[in-house]
Amino acid sequence: MSDGPAASSPEDTPKTPNVLKREATQANRHSTSPTAQTETPRLQLRNLSLTSSSQERILDDVSLEVPRGRIVGLIGPSGSGKSTLLRAMNRLWEPGKGTVLLDGNDITALDVVKLRRRVGALFQTAALFDGTVADNVRYGPRLRGERSTDNQVEDLLQKAGLEPGMASVPASQLSGGQAQRVSLARTLANQPECLLLDEPTSALDPGATRLVEETILRLRDETGMTVVMVSHDVEQIRRVADEVCLLVKGRIVERGTPEELFASQQTLSQQFLKGTLEAGHAA
Ligand SMILES: Nc1ncnc2c1ncn2[C@@H]1O[C@H](COP(=O)(O)OP(=O)(O)OP(=O)(O)O)[C@@H](O)[C@H]1O
Ligand SMILES: [Mg+2]
Repeated sequence: MSDGPAASSPEDTPKTPNVLKREATQANRHSTSPTAQTETPRLQLRNLSLTSSSQERILDDVSLEVPRGRIVGLIGPSGSGKSTLLRAMNRLWEPGKGTVLLDGNDITALDVVKLRRRVGALFQTAALFDGTVADNVRYGPRLRGERSTDNQVEDLLQKAGLEPGMASVPASQLSGGQAQRVSLARTLANQPECLLLDEPTSALDPGATRLVEETILRLRDETGMTVVMVSHDVEQIRRVADEVCLLVKGRIVERGTPEELFASQQTLSQQFLKGTLEAGHAA
């Protein structure tokens, strides 16, 4: 656990996060290859800042590396900047200050459509189009002038944890959990290297939540997918994430494995886990 002084309020927190037991993190967690630690991180965020029109600091010089083939969770009180940080990773938000690198390349130098294929995003609720499940899954390739075969559609549905037979079902007849997984299959049709998930299960019941979580874990294990996942559910982070970052008032105040965060003596982490750290402010 961190030996640093416990912070009594976000204002007192150091700008650099407590990095919890790095040696243990690297030794114990999932690794895609023996050289994973020396590879260029899939995503690197450097010194991102955002100040609101009322001069409130929304992101305060945030830097973060997302290793390949890992699931990094972002947690923190409402308004702490989680979604904004996530959106910076595929230019849904363009930071005025700071840089985002994908495989070592500045993402502002990349074509934004191609970038968003490589770094797919999934949000709280699935926004599917009218038509069948297959129509939705074929959407991305169709934009590129490609026609997905039935086999390709079925393969994508399976990757997203759905039965291939669902291809012909009208999207309007799906449950929330099924729709979220169809949305995932539609994103996977673009063959992304990275997935950005913003509270992807918060509209789902526990059963559907578990199915989506299993799908995310399988994608990491079977395809080496890199995932950044915002969640307000710390138990979900414990089940899914390899590493977790706690964001408070636009700063990453702790980073480590979920187990390390749960064992943290840091005041902000304890307050967050107890639910007494609300709206970015210490209780
Ligand atoms: N481009 C922007 N310009 C100015 N303010 C912004 C911008 N994007 C987001 N904000 C503000 O930043 C703050 C943080 O928002 P954000 O959505 O990132 O928080 P969050 O941690 O995801 O919260 P929640 O858990 O409620 O989803 C909010 O007050 C929001 O209005
Ligand atoms: Mg959010």
